[in-house]
Amino acid sequence: MTTFNKITPSVLESFSKILGNEYVLSDAESVLNYSHDETEDLHFPPEVILKPRTPEEISQIMLICNREQIPVTPRGAGTGLSGAALPVYGGVILSLERFNKILEIDERNLQATVEPGVINEVFQLAVREKGLFYPPDPASKGSCFLGGNIALSSGGPKAVKYGTTKEYVLNLEVVLPTGEIIWTGANVLKNSTGFNLTQLMVGSEGMLGIVTKIVFRLLPLPQKTIVMLVPFYSAGKACESVASVFKAGIIPSAMEFMERDAIDWALRFVSGISIQIDEKVQAHLLIELDGNDMEGMMKDAEAIGEIMTRFDCGEILFADTEEQKQNLWRMRRCIGEAVKSHSVYKEEDTVVMRAELPRLLAGVKEIGSKYGFKSVCYGHAGDGNLHVNIIKGEMSDDDWNNKLPLGIREIFTLCVKLGGTISGEHGIGWVQKDYMDIAFTSKALELQKQIRDVFDPNGIMNPGKMFK
Ligand code: LAC
Ligand code: ZN
Repeated sequence: MTTFNKITPSVLESFSKILGNEYVLSDAESVLNYSHDETEDLHFPPEVILKPRTPEEISQIMLICNREQIPVTPRGAGTGLSGAALPVYGGVILSLERFNKILEIDERNLQATVEPGVINEVFQLAVREKGLFYPPDPASKGSCFLGGNIALSSGGPKAVKYGTTKEYVLNLEVVLPTGEIIWTGANVLKNSTGFNLTQLMVGSEGMLGIVTKIVFRLLPLPQKTIVMLVPFYSAGKACESVASVFKAGIIPSAMEFMERDAIDWALRFVSGISIQIDEKVQAHLLIELDGNDMEGMMKDAEAIGEIMTRFDCGEILFADTEEQKQNLWRMRRCIGEAVKSHSVYKEEDTVVMRAELPRLLAGVKEIGSKYGFKSVCYGHAGDGNLHVNIIKGEMSDDDWNNKLPLGIREIFTLCVKLGGTISGEHGIGWVQKDYMDIAFTSKALELQKQIRDVFDPNGIMNPGKMFK
């Protein structure tokens, strides 16, 4: 077990020399602000928050932290849901918020070079103005940083057709934990040169280095969408219907599942949206099709409608206007926050093979009855990615703290049995690390720890994450 040193006044002074006093913060308010991300109600105070502006400044900071054995936790916008940006051993929070420039949108090559502190949606809108498309769209797209998306290999609704962040990353500039600055690959669409360091960085949760520049590939922007909300009288049937759509040769640009409670809580949480929902409705699918050929898309929408009737659906709502589409998405995107504001909860980011989704949902409910917890489930059904929100409700603190982990273990064991794993898009971070043995054999885990040690021989980068 690595031991760490506290930050001394002389180390603080060195940080100030590199960054200027303005970007070295240790006042109570900043410490509080940077002590948490969006994961449950967890707080770990850092000793200092550093806000560098260049890779060279980060490199100098890393040299000091290595020499002094000080833990460093990189942080984007702090929207993460697995606690990957929590400074669990104190030390430095290295905030990337000043790395907020879109450096280039290369329209000739459909690529862009950006800094990691650019907000996902700001980037999406900037490329959209040029008729280009950056698909990954986490629910927090309005505030999350692209660097954080890379650290967690983030997804979002569009992943079902367009894949997650990793599909768009071509090349990364990275400051290594030991201070060197490297590029991981090349700005090309194909690359069989050496080990794939680029993809090794994606999803590495700030443990292998600090990304300082990102080269993304882009797509032409699809011009049209159809958005439909399909009510079901059984949540299981809603899940069953999902695989049939793909089997019929249709790939929607989103295929989202929402249990009744999720939609009810979201509608209460968000303002200005009203949807009439029949009492008997148990779940919905929110389905989006995109493209340029409206006629073809309408045909697909009709085919989906027909498929859905086989699974006992109610009347399908088609969004007529751009505003209606936006409202449906606004409602879907706020479910996480709505659940959070409703109750003490834990979120599990389960993922299985798409056609196994009904078994996963049924299994989660069964495990819930066995352990005495209620769950509200929603997520990216087309990806087999179900966000299971476990609600504390009437559970005693003792059961919540001691019995529930066994229930979570059962849920994850079921995921793996169904060909899945323990996180689809939120990462492992602090809150899921105890369960990694379910997803990997000890040899596969050992290999990952060895890789970490090669990058970070002193164990100072985001310690306490991913592995027990
Ligand atoms: C969502 C986030 C929680 O899908 O991943 O809303
Ligand atoms: Zn999600």
